Amino acid sequence: MPSSLNNAPFDLASLDVLAPLVESFAGSCLDPAFVNSGMTPSAHLASNSMLFTQGGSWPRDVWAVSGFGAVLDAVVVETDAPVQLIDLCSILCVLGFNDPWVKLKQIAYLLSPQPHHVTIRLGCDMYYRVARRILRSFDRSTEPGDLVVNLRQCNGSDAVELALHAAWKAVEGSPRRRRLATFRGSYHGENLTASLISDQQPEHGSGRLLMDQAENVVFLPSPTCGDGGYLTDEALAALARLEREGDEFFAVVIEPVQWRESVHAVPLEFLRRLRDVCTRKSICLIFDEIHNGFGYTGTISFADNCGVRPDISAMSKGLTGGHGSLAITVARKEFRAIEGPFAGKSNAADMLSLVAVDAVLDRLLGVDSDEAGALPDWLPTGLASELRTGLLATVYPRTVAMVDLLFDELRRRFPSLVGASAGLGLVRGLVMLDADGRPSSAVAAEVAKRCLVHGVYVRQADTALFVKPRLAFTQDEADAALVGLSRTFEEVLDDRDKANR
Ligand SMILES: Cc1ncc(COP(=O)(O)O)c(C=O)c1O
Repeated sequence: MPSSLNNAPFDLASLDVLAPLVESFAGSCLDPAFVNSGMTPSAHLASNSMLFTQGGSWPRDVWAVSGFGAVLDAVVVETDAPVQLIDLCSILCVLGFNDPWVKLKQIAYLLSPQPHHVTIRLGCDMYYRVARRILRSFDRSTEPGDLVVNLRQCNGSDAVELALHAAWKAVEGSPRRRRLATFRGSYHGENLTASLISDQQPEHGSGRLLMDQAENVVFLPSPTCGDGGYLTDEALAALARLEREGDEFFAVVIEPVQWRESVHAVPLEFLRRLRDVCTRKSICLIFDEIHNGFGYTGTISFADNCGVRPDISAMSKGLTGGHGSLAITVARKEFRAIEGPFAGKSNAADMLSLVAVDAVLDRLLGVDSDEAGALPDWLPTGLASELRTGLLATVYPRTVAMVDLLFDELRRRFPSLVGASAGLGLVRGLVMLDADGRPSSAVAAEVAKRCLVHGVYVRQADTALFVKPRLAFTQDEADAALVGLSRTFEEVLDDRDKANR
């Protein structure tokens, strides 16, 4: 059994207490090593060209085999060659792969007779426990009873849509308030409502959605600051418009970090002024915190971090750490009414997702004091001490500093390719430059693609690489990422040199 974790998740099968169970599975179809299909990744790929829809679920050229923390063991499908990947863009695995505590809590739940699925017509203890914990952790400045939570959404798009339903319902007595403000550069998901309020939709405006646009959705410019650090005239004009026409708006929806806009962090001053105008004009302010919430910017809610409080927050990524799907809205009680049949997705009755949220809260904030004394004495000491203090208070600042150092080092080594750092906390972007030193989405796309071969997983976010590592990122993982990114950048610059010869 490992005695100290140093933030590295470990294989639960290595725990002495679980050995009898694991051994009892050996040789049966429950054996973790049991071969399910008997086909190699390349045989799967060759056989399945008509198995999946095109887009989204097409056959993949890299195949994941196992994972702990930010490290994935994978196979390049074409060659069957093994590759170790550092997941530098975990998106929602805020604790990395296979977090031992989340899995232990899920195992404990599975061993209990409690139902694994509690239909939305019924209540249960876990449902209330998680709701209370989220509200308690959500916003330290609110009084008990100020906020309400909805735990019955499956994904981020659902939560954004639900927030709109709540805001819409709240103005049913005000027929003039029919307009919704959103922003250029925004992305709120892929269902129809989310598409209609998102700027960053590949098909937006091309006539390929069921509806191209909603007449009452107003796109304001993406809020930015100019060189002097002051809000641009455009940003001020957007606020002035809301001031002028505010009586016609029922809601404003904004992502505090617009990740698809090269991971652009909306200036705090803009959020403050937006809050101010929304309060005076009685417009519901919705934060889409799908990306920046639940630990990635240091707190559970972004409001707790930045001091600007929305009326409704929508959250999803990070909630279960990838151990189940769930999304939530947290709203001021004025927005608690929602018209049926909205607000209760059938698949959000999965109890293991709720158990995961409970466990992720333990990991981020530390277990409740009355439970700290009841931790099993066989837990590895590193994990037990992390559970007493919570990762946000201990490792978050260290991981942010690690990302800063990684970016600085890459910029020092590759000044002609690496531009500005964007985003905030652990929701970060590294701008990629073309041969003329201009931010380039083509270069970012090329680099993100090539990184995989060199053992690093990042995504492209317009002109930036999108970097969003797990909270307890280790120095070893950061060092391996630096090696893989450097190799990729060298290769890209070599090719650029060759092309210029
Ligand atoms: C800011 C933001 N909002 C909403 C969503 C939609 O979330 P989901 O894909 O879970 O529906 C996303 C997805 O990436 C997102 O980035």
